[in-house]
Parts: sequence; structure tokens; C-alpha cells
Amino acid sequence: MFDVNKIRNDFPMIRNNPELIYFDNGATTFKPDYVIEGINDFYNNYTSNVERGDYDIAIKADKAYHNTRNIISKMINCQAKEIAFMSNITACLNQIVYGLSYELKENDVVLLTQEEHASNLLPWFRLAKQKGIIIKYIPIDIQGNIIFDELVKLIDSNVKVISIAYMSNVLGSIAPIKKISELAHKNDIRLVVDAAQAIGHIKLDVKDLDVDYLCFSSHKMLGPDGVGVLYGKYDLLSNMQPMLLGGGMNARFDNEGNIILKDAPERFEAGTPNIEGVIGLARASEYLMDIGLDNIHNYEIELKKYLMSKLKDINTIEIYNPDNLSGIVSFNVKDVFAQDAATYLSSKNIAVRSGNHCAKILHNVIGTDQSIRASMYLYNTKEEIDKFVAEVKNINLDSVISVFL
Ligand code: ALA
Repeated sequence: MFDVNKIRNDFPMIRNNPELIYFDNGATTFKPDYVIEGINDFYNNYTSNVERGDYDIAIKADKAYHNTRNIISKMINCQAKEIAFMSNITACLNQIVYGLSYELKENDVVLLTQEEHASNLLPWFRLAKQKGIIIKYIPIDIQGNIIFDELVKLIDSNVKVISIAYMSNVLGSIAPIKKISELAHKNDIRLVVDAAQAIGHIKLDVKDLDVDYLCFSSHKMLGPDGVGVLYGKYDLLSNMQPMLLGGGMNARFDNEGNIILKDAPERFEAGTPNIEGVIGLARASEYLMDIGLDNIHNYEIELKKYLMSKLKDINTIEIYNPDNLSGIVSFNVKDVFAQDAATYLSSKNIAVRSGNHCAKILHNVIGTDQSIRASMYLYNTKEEIDKFVAEVKNINLDSVISVFL
């Protein structure tokens, strides 16, 4: 049974800040006691490095670190060896582009969308400059949904990669990944999925979706900062060149500079990893699986519908994604700069994000490069929504100016 009050009680940030309404879960999420206790346990009882020590606490750390792969593999349905840990999803996406740069050649086409976050655009932009690959954008509608028939029209033998977000961080639109992977694989195209906003919100099954690579960050799914997860089909990971070289990822090297790499996934984990972060991530995954990803997704849809039912009658606002079924609402208040509106809301103890949300070419589609984004998660409530809506109604030029006086 999904019990939001019980869930709220698991989060020190909520217990310690009873007045705060936190609607910036797209940026990062709060951490439950279970995660914090796991990290503290490592710091307090078995701090050590991994893959280097032959003593008890190091062996314990090794086990805990590697066991996270088993837990993640249960959550997204893959093999443990298909999971590599990096520093965040940005590092993972850069790694994938770096790996694919060995295969792609001039005039090969990569399909993206204009709603991608910077981390799924800039590495491709650089590769386009370096190697002459061609980037094309898959048409999306004004609420950020991929227009599948238009995608089909873009497919030809030059298209080698499709790299898209599972869920837009601005519009909360959800891409039809399974349908896209069928299309991609029929045409010998690799599919890369940025699951930053989907992980922890929707049940992801990489085998069923048949994606080639999928990545996400721990901190957006109740886990610690500084850990990214790179999933790749094992044969693809095994053949991918690592972006970072150093200790922990090589099997041997010699005077002449010959390097023998370890197998995947360790070959992608150069240097001392974020051990406590990876241990905390295991706990976040367990916590989410215990509540149930389908329950979380359904609850977010319930919150979104409730919020929309309250916002739809406010004629001073424009909402960009009313119909998308996820916990994200992006909007503007007429004649008020988005950041000023966010500052007003902050003065009422409400945290939202404003601006372009790192999706700096999305304005080509929605017509504005500034919006206020409220992004909800499993611990938010309808009571919080009521307070939020009451304050949104109060936002106007005068109320905003009064905050700055
Ligand atoms: N990509 C994160 C967001 O959407 C940081 O806020």
C-alpha cells in the first residue's frame, strides 16, 4: 500500500523542514534514512578502498560496492556485468559518445531531439565538429512528444545512432522507447537512452525495451550525488573504449606503453570510485523497489492530474505540458520573468526551478527559453499542491516586486 505519510517520515529533509514545499525533484531528490545510514555505516565501520585491499574491511567494501551491480540489475533487468559506475549521467553519456566515436565516420547521422538536456547534446556536437557526423532532430510536438511517423521518415542507411531522453526534464514527455528500439534495430541503428528523469519514477526494463545503452544518475533517484550508472548490452560494453585511463581499469601495462584493459564493466571505472555513493545507491534502489516503481509512477500521475485540475482555471498562466503523464509541470506567469516568479515562490517556502533547465534549444519548439518547472516525487502531497496553487495565483508584477523591496 502506497502510504505517502509513512514515506515522508523516512526523509530527514522533510522532518527537519516541515514548512518547505520541495518541487524541484527534477534537479535532485531528498535521501531517505535508509540511504544515509548505509553511507554512514561505510564511513563509521569499514572505510577502505575497493579492489586493492586484502584485509577484512576492504573485502567488505568490495562486496558492498559490487553488490550494487546486482541490485541495480534487478531494478532494470539486466546482468550485473552490464552495469558500470561513473561520476554522473553526464560522464556516462560522454563515455558512450567517446566509445561510439571509434565507430562513427563522416556523414553518419545521429538522431537527437531539441528537448535533450545539454549532456545529450554537447558531446554529439563536439563529435560532429571533430568527425563530420551529421546531427538531425526528430520532430516533437509542442508538449515534447516524439512524432513517431516523422522519426520513421528520417530513417535511412546513414542513420547509425538514436540518442534520446526517456523523459524530458522540462516537459515530462515520455518517449515510446520500445517502439523506437524496434525501429532502430530493424535498421541496424544503436539506441542510447538518457534515463535521468525516468529512473526512480517509472519501472525500466532494459531487456524488454531492448535498448543498447541507458544511463542515469543516482542523486535523482533518492541516492547520493556523484554516481552515474552506465548500462550497456555486454557485447557492446566489452568492445567500447574507455574514456578514462588509470588505476583499477587495467589488467597490465608495460615499459613500452602497452595496456591490457580489464573486461567491462571495470574498464570504465578508472581511479578510486565513489564507494560510499555506490553503496548508498544500492540502498536507494532497494527502497524504491520496496515501494514499487509502478506505485510511484501512478502516484505521480495522480499528483499531476490533481495539480492540472487546480491550475487550469488560472488565466494568468500558460502551461506547456498539460497532458504529459509524469510529475513535471512547466509554465509561465504572464508578464513575469520565470526567475522572479521562482524567487516569489521561494519567499513562500516553495522550491521550484526556473530558466531553461539546461535544455537550451527547446525554445525552438515551445517558444520560450524561460519557464518555471514544478517537479514532484513520491513524497509530495495534494496539500502541498493546494498551497503551491494558492501562491501561483498570487504571482503578479506587484507581488514579485514586493519580494525584492
Ligand atoms: N538536469 C537537471 C534538471 O533538470 C539538473 O534540473
